[in-house]
Amino acid sequence: MGKEFKIAVISGDGIGPEIVAEAKKVLNRVAEVYGHTFHFTDVLMGGAAIDKTGEPLPQETIDNCKASDAVLMGSIGGDPNTSPWYKLSPEKRPEAGLLRIRKELGLFANLRPALLYPELKSACPLKETAAEKGFDLVMVRELTGGLYFGARRTEEVNGERVATDTLVYSESEIRRVAVKAFEIARARAATKAGVTPKVTSIDKANVLDSSRLWRDVLNKVSADYPDVTLEHMLVDNCAMQLVLNPAQFDVVVTENMFGDILSDEASMITGSIGMLPSASLNESSLGLYEPSGGSAPDIAGKGIANPLATILSAAMLLRYSLGLSKEADAVEEAVRKTLADGFRTKDIAGDANDEAITVTGTAGMGDAVAERI
Ligand code: IPM
Ligand code: MG
Repeated sequence: MGKEFKIAVISGDGIGPEIVAEAKKVLNRVAEVYGHTFHFTDVLMGGAAIDKTGEPLPQETIDNCKASDAVLMGSIGGDPNTSPWYKLSPEKRPEAGLLRIRKELGLFANLRPALLYPELKSACPLKETAAEKGFDLVMVRELTGGLYFGARRTEEVNGERVATDTLVYSESEIRRVAVKAFEIARARAATKAGVTPKVTSIDKANVLDSSRLWRDVLNKVSADYPDVTLEHMLVDNCAMQLVLNPAQFDVVVTENMFGDILSDEASMITGSIGMLPSASLNESSLGLYEPSGGSAPDIAGKGIANPLATILSAAMLLRYSLGLSKEADAVEEAVRKTLADGFRTKDIAGDANDEAITVTGTAGMGDAVAERI
């Protein structure tokens, strides 16, 4: 029996509309094959919203997202050096819309998988030994606390400006994201025989109080998950380990700012940020799904952006918000087949002399995936 769902769509800025169109193409194909109905509603956020309404996040967008089963997003923001959006005060800029929607929807857990596809080994910037081993990790970034949401101010003290940002976490904020990380580790292990699930918690407990609390709460939560190994690692060491031996990681959980930085690092060792999906989840099933990459204004409108991260984000949407795991598997499998059949956008094409490789554009890649479902 087919099911019906409401999906709010934030195409956003830069390459956003192009890559979202391909994810919708794939979702429409899923609907056709599996007999579901997806109702898409376009809503405004970021620069596109500023241009039309003067606000980076209109109330109508918040209401629409809250009334939907899931939110599919492209990317927001422009070039800070040339875009007029960056002449506005910080709380009126495109990024403010993104931070606020995370808070409004309570999206405290941000999942950013980083996986090296065997076909893209040559795009991995690491030494052959690391690339040969492969890796498949997921970063769970706390998304509604920490430095991003603590009190901040700039004031005049003794004749000079002093700026303060605060890194605050309560035990309950740490606990809920820790629980998500352990649950995800368990669920991932269930799909792979003989694998012991592992959570690596990243902090700076040798310096920060918030990290010492983080570590303590993680230890307490781990008592409920005797089947999952817990390791602690300092954030600077993690930055190093990610390029030295990424295969050691399974689920990595960390605070907002560390997660922002480490997830960019993890994404780049897969060869291209254009491959990486992300899911931001709250306590209910509502989630926001977006590629990990940004709006790439330099290539916007050229039809060359890699839509796979957005398509894989749509797969996460099917799995986590709509409960359609078979359909999610089908999308991920179609992406794997598309790569195995030699389709590449420019960012993952390598030297592309190989005859088995077909270099294609944004829409061509979307078509290739849709056809394989
Ligand atoms: C991300 C982005 C955002 C963040 C920016 C655009 C505010 O870098 O989603 O990782 O820092 O969270
Ligand atoms: Mg970031």
